[in-house]
This record gives sequence, C-alpha cells and structure tokens, in this order.
Amino acid sequence: AKEPVRVLVTGAAGQIGYALVPMIARGVMLGPDQPVILHMLDIPPAAEALNGVKMELIDAAFPLLKGVVATTDVVEACTGVNIAVMVGGFPRKEGMERKDVMTKNVSIYKSQASALEKHAAANCKVLVVANPANTNALILKEFAPSIPEKNITCLTRLDHNRALGQIAEKLKVQVSDVKNAIIWGNHSSTQYPDVNHATACGKPVRELVKNDAWLNGEFITTVQQRGAAIIKARKLSSALSAASGACDHIRDWVLGTPEGTWVSMGVYSDGSYNVPAGLIYSFPVTCRNGEWTIVQGLPIDEFSRKKMDATADELSEEKALAYSCLS
Ligand code: NAI
Repeated sequence: AKEPVRVLVTGAAGQIGYALVPMIARGVMLGPDQPVILHMLDIPPAAEALNGVKMELIDAAFPLLKGVVATTDVVEACTGVNIAVMVGGFPRKEGMERKDVMTKNVSIYKSQASALEKHAAANCKVLVVANPANTNALILKEFAPSIPEKNITCLTRLDHNRALGQIAEKLKVQVSDVKNAIIWGNHSSTQYPDVNHATACGKPVRELVKNDAWLNGEFITTVQQRGAAIIKARKLSSALSAASGACDHIRDWVLGTPEGTWVSMGVYSDGSYNVPAGLIYSFPVTCRNGEWTIVQGLPIDEFSRKKMDATADELSEEKALAYSCLS
C-alpha cells in the first residue's frame, strides 16, 4: 500500500475549505489509490467550526483518509506536509482600502512562509488560492527562500476551467472536448483569457465559433467577471468551483497533464513571453514527473500582447504595494 500524503489546507473552516476537504479525502486531488492525511489550519475564532469539519470528516468514513489534524497552531499544521493549499486569508470588507487588505495578507503569508520553510516535508508543493493569490504566492516565495521557487504556485485553474466552460456552452459541445485555453497573468479582472490556441473536438475554437467580436469581447469579460457574477447570484463567492479547480491544479501538477494538453498555472516568471521575471504570473504549462514547464513558442498577436502587458503591469504594481506594506 502507498504511504499517505499529508495535505495542508489553510482556512479550512471557510467556504472553499468545506468544499475542498471532502474532495481531497475522496481521492479527487491525488487519485483513487492514494491515501491522505489532512492537516487543517484556521484561526482561533474559527476553531470550533474547524472541529465541526473534522467531526464530519470522521463521520463520512472516507476509506482513503488516514488521519485528520485540525489546529490553530501554524507549526503543527505545517509539520511534514507534502502539499500545502493556502486558502486562508483576510477578506476585503466594505470600506477597506486595498492597502489595508494587502497589509493583512502580506503579514499572514510572510509568517506562514516561515512555518512551511521550517516544518514542511522537503519538496513540498504549494498552491495559493487566497486573494490576492499571485501576490500572496510571491510573498510566500520571498519569505521561504529554501523552498524551490518552482514549488510555489497560485490558482488560475478556476479561470481556465471557466473559459473552457464558456466555449463549451457557446459551441454546444462537451467541456471535455475543449482544451488549451490560456489564462495569462493575474487572478483578477485584468487576467487575459486567450482562446487563440484552443481547440474543440480537435478544431480551432476561432474557426468553430466564427465570431471574433464575441471572442474578443463578451467572452473575455464574462470569464474575467465570473467571480463577481457568482457573488451576485449566491451572495457568497465561488467555492465548489474553486475547490474543484484546486484539485485539478494539484492533480495535473503531481500526476501530469495529458499528452497534447496544457493547463494554466500561476508560476514564477522566468521572463518567458517577455513577462517581467520575478512575478507570479499565469502561463500555459504542461506537467510531467511532478514538474511544470511553460509552453514555449506560441505566436502572440498584438491584441494579446496588450492584454498580457496590462495584467503584468497590475502585478508589478501589486508587488510594489506588497513591499510597501512590509516596511
Ligand atoms: P472564507 O472567508 O469562507 O474562508 C477563509 C477562511 O480563512 C476562514 O475560515 C478564516 O477564518 C480563515 N483564515 C483567516 N486568516 C487565516 C490565517 N491567518 N490562517 C489560517 N486561516 C485563516 O473564504 P472562502 O470563500 O473560502 O475564500 C478563501 C479565499 O480564496 C479568499 O481569499 C478568496 O478571495 C479566495 N478565492 C480565490 C479563488 C481563486 O481562483 N484563486 C477563487 C475563489 C476564492
């Protein structure tokens, strides 16, 4: 039998946490033959709720679930973890300035970076979900210098899946027949959902949709603003789709992407596609043997270039703001 993998979920008493932990315990993230031990972290005001989630995990009698650690102690939470999914964070509340939210999250990600660096398993893979996801991941990377930078990523797979979903709806095909969309840049409304290389049933999406105005307009804004549309409808932000996207992200990273398919991940930029190095930016990637590689050589037209640069500019600005919050 395989050794259990320890998976940390921070903010586990929250909405995404509640959707995510049962998926992990059922094998959605790491496969149906991989036992797991869940480490769940939240803050003291949520301790009782967190314990309730632990009770439900026990009650669900998941065959793959070999243990549950539910704690408000960051060191206990991080000790020995092989995968860390960082969902915990400080939400933006009405009337709060962007800088105030950034200050709170920068300090959370700085301290959790140190705990992971000291106590996680060697080669721990980190996925940051909490917003501002790219910049939280960057702070985590900066304050965990001994964790290889390729191990620190942020979630844009939800946006990627939203793009596939919109194309499938438009073409009335199965979503599983649509692939190779790209989310470039920030997990924010400046992200650029790009279908110039996407296919449906093996044919270029642009040829099938035959409506460039829609693809260059409404399609992009729908994907960019889908999070706000979910909040409007549910009075709560997306949780099941975020949890599912987090499972897809880790599964493909660990187990590999299918031949001929790429996915979007927020990763540390090496300057590919003239994106400034040193940002956590969403790129198309393929994964193999537990490592991602940025897909190289895709032609970029002028329309795309502008949008890729705009979202990079926003990330540079967020990075500067994050640094100003540190000092
Ligand atoms: P939520 O507010 O329901 O849950 C957040 C949890 O984090 C709460 O239980 C809170 O107590 C906990 N928390 C706060 N500070 C913490 C700390 N220092 N350590 C550990 N836990 C802490 O929020 P929800 O809906 O689960 O969303 C979580 C985050 O994910 C938000 O930042 C949200 O904006 C982001 N998000 C990101 C998406 C993406 O695609 N990247 C998609 C959807 C949401």
